[in-house]
Amino acid sequence: MSKLKVAIIGCGNIANSAHIPSYLHLKDDIEIKYFCDIIKEKADRCVERYGCGIAIEDYHDAINDPEIDAISVCTPNLMHKTISIDALHAGKHVLCEKPTARIYSEALEMQAAQKETGKVLNIGVCCRFHAAVEEVRRRILAGDLGEVYHIFINFREHRSIPGLGGAFTTKEIAGGGVLIDWGVHRLDQVMYCLGDPEPKSVSAAAFSKIGCDIPNYRYRFMWSSDTMDLNGVFDVDDSVSAFIRTSGPVISLEGAWAENLDLQEQHLDFLGTKAGIRLRYCGGFEMYSVNEDGEFVTEKWDPPADRDMYVDEIKSFINSIRTGEKSRANIDYAIKTSKIMQGIYDSSDEGREIVF
Ligand SMILES: NC(=O)c1ccc[n+]([C@@H]2O[C@H](COP(=O)([O-])OP(=O)(O)OC[C@H]3O[C@@H](n4cnc5c(N)ncnc54)[C@H](O)[C@@H]3O)[C@@H](O)[C@H]2O)c1
Repeated sequence: MSKLKVAIIGCGNIANSAHIPSYLHLKDDIEIKYFCDIIKEKADRCVERYGCGIAIEDYHDAINDPEIDAISVCTPNLMHKTISIDALHAGKHVLCEKPTARIYSEALEMQAAQKETGKVLNIGVCCRFHAAVEEVRRRILAGDLGEVYHIFINFREHRSIPGLGGAFTTKEIAGGGVLIDWGVHRLDQVMYCLGDPEPKSVSAAAFSKIGCDIPNYRYRFMWSSDTMDLNGVFDVDDSVSAFIRTSGPVISLEGAWAENLDLQEQHLDFLGTKAGIRLRYCGGFEMYSVNEDGEFVTEKWDPPADRDMYVDEIKSFINSIRTGEKSRANIDYAIKTSKIMQGIYDSSDEGREIVF
């Protein structure tokens, strides 16, 4: 079997920390032919660092190359739709980073392009490949928790706004703030654990209260600080609260990049009639139940150290390309998370419940 040839579009953080190392890990099956970035030096640096590939600035050069089988879209959210659709129409398979797009209508256009072309379109919902998430899903679907009726999603930090004033906090580029950046992972992994139920309705409020005062924002550290711009824009949500009804359990969601509580809350609680699970984000979980003797039981479960969710995400992409098998990261699943997030923003803007 010949190697698949891929192109990396966008040579920033996620490309260098996840996509490129994962493709290189699978180098017997895959060859990176292009590194593409509108900032050419970033593409050049990849060629130098990884000792392979050709540096380009225009993604069209990659998708017009008949040798290229697939691309990874690792650009800011603004470009997800355009690059993905152009690549699908050029006959390429696409792994596009999360969120699928800035808004739901863009995600629907991407899904339509996938259906038209028949090529693979997976989304970078990497948490679906985390061992603990897989185990929680297995237990829920096996009935170990009894009837699962309510999920609490909690992702609240004291001060964790990324790159203040830059791409992350500019709605035109990112589409939204903490919900679209962090909430997407938490919500999507809950949907996966529940067997991807249908969204029914949402009532929500999103706030932009702490980051919008750019000159007076105080923090101890900032991630993606390389994109910080004190003269830039902050017009996205820095906290969000939502109540979501699905064809399965209801979901309560509380998220904040920043709030005036010096605490960290990063967990997902699954409440069932027989047992409950607290899953720590990207960590292990505890399962709480009562045994046959009426005693309270707490089981701790830690993920194996040898699993890498990004490598498994790429393996799943390659498997879909090679076999046509639908991946758990397929657009048809990720689109439900896009729909709920759009509902959350619409509910907040319109001050009412959104019924899908
Ligand atoms: N799965 C995850 O856990 C995870 C983590 C971080 C980021 N992300 C997602 O990955 C994407 C990129 O985030 P990042 O943190 O790597 O950002 P980044 O700014 O570090 O990198 C993005 C790169 O894309 C380049 N770029 C912009 N427009 C381009 C274009 N038209 N063609 C080619 N290159 C272009 C930029 O110059 C930059 O180098 C975002 O959608 C983000 O939501 C996912």
